[in-house]
Amino acid sequence: MTFENPPREILTLKNLALWRDETLLCESINLTIAHKEKVAVIGHNGSGKTTLLETIAGLCPIKRGEIRLFGETTIDVKQIGYLLQESDDHFLAPIAEDDIAFSILARGGDRKYAAEKTAEILSTLDIEHLAKKVVYHLSGGEKKLVALAGVLAADPKLLLLDEPTTALDYDAQLRVANILQKLDIGMAIVSHDREFLESIAHRFYALTPQTLKRIDDYEAFITHSHDGMPPHIHSRAK
Ligand SMILES: Nc1ncnc2c1ncn2[C@@H]1O[C@H](COP(=O)(O)OP(=O)(O)OP(=O)(O)O)[C@@H](O)[C@H]1O
Ligand SMILES: [Mg+2]
Repeated sequence: MTFENPPREILTLKNLALWRDETLLCESINLTIAHKEKVAVIGHNGSGKTTLLETIAGLCPIKRGEIRLFGETTIDVKQIGYLLQESDDHFLAPIAEDDIAFSILARGGDRKYAAEKTAEILSTLDIEHLAKKVVYHLSGGEKKLVALAGVLAADPKLLLLDEPTTALDYDAQLRVANILQKLDIGMAIVSHDREFLESIAHRFYALTPQTLKRIDDYEAFITHSHDGMPPHIHSRAK
């Protein structure tokens, strides 16, 4: 998928160093996500993908480099919809529909709008049957879908999705892919799910200790992903 006239930038990362506490995970990241652009970020377990999303969302400090959202270095996190890797970390209300509505109310929507929007997103994701359920009693896949409903219902201008299809059955994966394909907003999607990423992403990047490297596709990452790794890992991969 390509854009003939790349639209304006939503997110810009400039020479951003990625740190987790005292550990440097990536030296320097440069990335631009334009309006409507869906960018896939892949990488090994522990490479720092979640840390990258947390840094963009303001949950990890910036030690070097710059993040701009709509050209501003002061990030308005209300414009960001962030699906966390761990669904349990999402929930602020015990009942699913209340939790979804809360994410709308927290951004200034009134109760009537929140109720309508909640019903709409439950229907879109085909999870109306979960509306009255206690979120902590939901299955892993059900939690993921309710968490995603809360994120999408808040009408974000940028989506950060951390492993959105983990724990989802195949039908739910297709449903989520279909919804995301149709959403005309910028996205950074972290996933290990190749089929899912290839169905929605316009560009692919691999997170390495040096940089966020543009790759042609998932195949290119698998083929070259052990280049530059310590010899024992390199030989094990062959
Ligand atoms: N809260 C934390 N405190 C300390 N270290 C952490 C914390 N979260 C992650 N780390 C460490 O930071 C590194 C990067 O973790 P991160 O979760 O960003 O990786 P990831 O690329 O998302 O991995 P995965 O594919 O397994 O989700 C790992 O070595 C991890 O152990
Ligand atoms: Mg992660």
